[in-house]
Amino acid sequence: MFVLGIETSCDETGVALYDAARGLAQGARPIAGLLAHALHSQIELHDDYGGVVPELASRDHIRRLLPLIEVVMGRAGADVKRLAAVAYTEGPGLAGALLVGASVAASLAFALGIPAIGIHHLEGHLLSPLLAPEPPRFPFVALLVSGGHTQLMRVSALGEYALLGETQDDAAGEAFDKTAKLLGLPYPGGPALAQLARGGQSGRFQLPRPMIASGDLDFSFSGLKTAVLLLTRQQAMDAQARADVARAFEEAVVDVLVAKCIAAIEASGLDRLVVAGGVGANARLRAALDAAGAAGGFGVHYPPLELCTDNGAMIAFAGALRLRQMQDSGSGIEESRKPGGFTVRPRWDLGSLSRA
Ligand code: KG4
Ligand code: ZN
Repeated sequence: MFVLGIETSCDETGVALYDAARGLAQGARPIAGLLAHALHSQIELHDDYGGVVPELASRDHIRRLLPLIEVVMGRAGADVKRLAAVAYTEGPGLAGALLVGASVAASLAFALGIPAIGIHHLEGHLLSPLLAPEPPRFPFVALLVSGGHTQLMRVSALGEYALLGETQDDAAGEAFDKTAKLLGLPYPGGPALAQLARGGQSGRFQLPRPMIASGDLDFSFSGLKTAVLLLTRQQAMDAQARADVARAFEEAVVDVLVAKCIAAIEASGLDRLVVAGGVGANARLRAALDAAGAAGGFGVHYPPLELCTDNGAMIAFAGALRLRQMQDSGSGIEESRKPGGFTVRPRWDLGSLSRA
């Protein structure tokens, strides 16, 4: 049972083919179902502008998507006629970018007479750690840290997500990107800032740990960026100072994220933490969470590194799980097979999936 996954919510065109019969069989590891995946990143396209330009993103998705589908089908040695469903990112994301993936998915599904399944982008991220060699079992606490979101969720089962806390302003990835820009680093800032921080000296600059003692599971990162701005104005910013500021910033973000994860684990009584989203690729965050897990007696699970940032595999996988759920419950399949229309949801609350 082959499910094609299409991701076009922002600046990566991602496509993957997932075999549910292989990956979702009793006792199988979910990663076994991932037959092929491919990604085209638009980083170079947006580099000159210091951030994603929505119209350019949409146009590039149009150029890349169909060839990428051919690449993936070719790598898997499979024909589209074998597809059981097409899953696509329905939201949240850039409206025009989402429309490219949604329209291709809906057309292909209509032509083949199979379901088109709209997937919540964050659900894709949330489930991606199940594609690790040692996948976690439900229930778990999930830390979603991407360019657009910073949330702690309790994940009880597929589609059962309860929000525990979230950022009140900037997302962690956004804070990385904005701070990187202040330090003159290219877009996207997260990996570049992490690289710069490696040569930085710990403790030279002090930055706040926003909301670390707020007693809840919420976050705030916009003040940190402002604190960095003040630092860069007060200091002569030679190469070493820039590295030291990067280091101070990264340590502050990591401290807050780790403290809130520990608090979420304690509050939930669960012993598994799953980390998803682009910032989950950060090596300092991973090391600190692993250490916290070892000390606190909870397991920490990540997706494979290449599936931390946006990708088609997580959408194909979430689509396969959703397809199986529809088949088991006997509901939703006819709905998803209806021709003639599709929706995208640029803004879409993940918690609403549980209420649906
Ligand atoms: O999940 P993702 O690919 O896209 C969104 O859905 O937002 O996350 C992208 C974010 C960007 O803000 C990027 O700077 C950040 O993840 N990021 C990192 C690292 N790699 C990516 N942040 C810190 N350290 C990294 N190594
Ligand atoms: Zn994402």
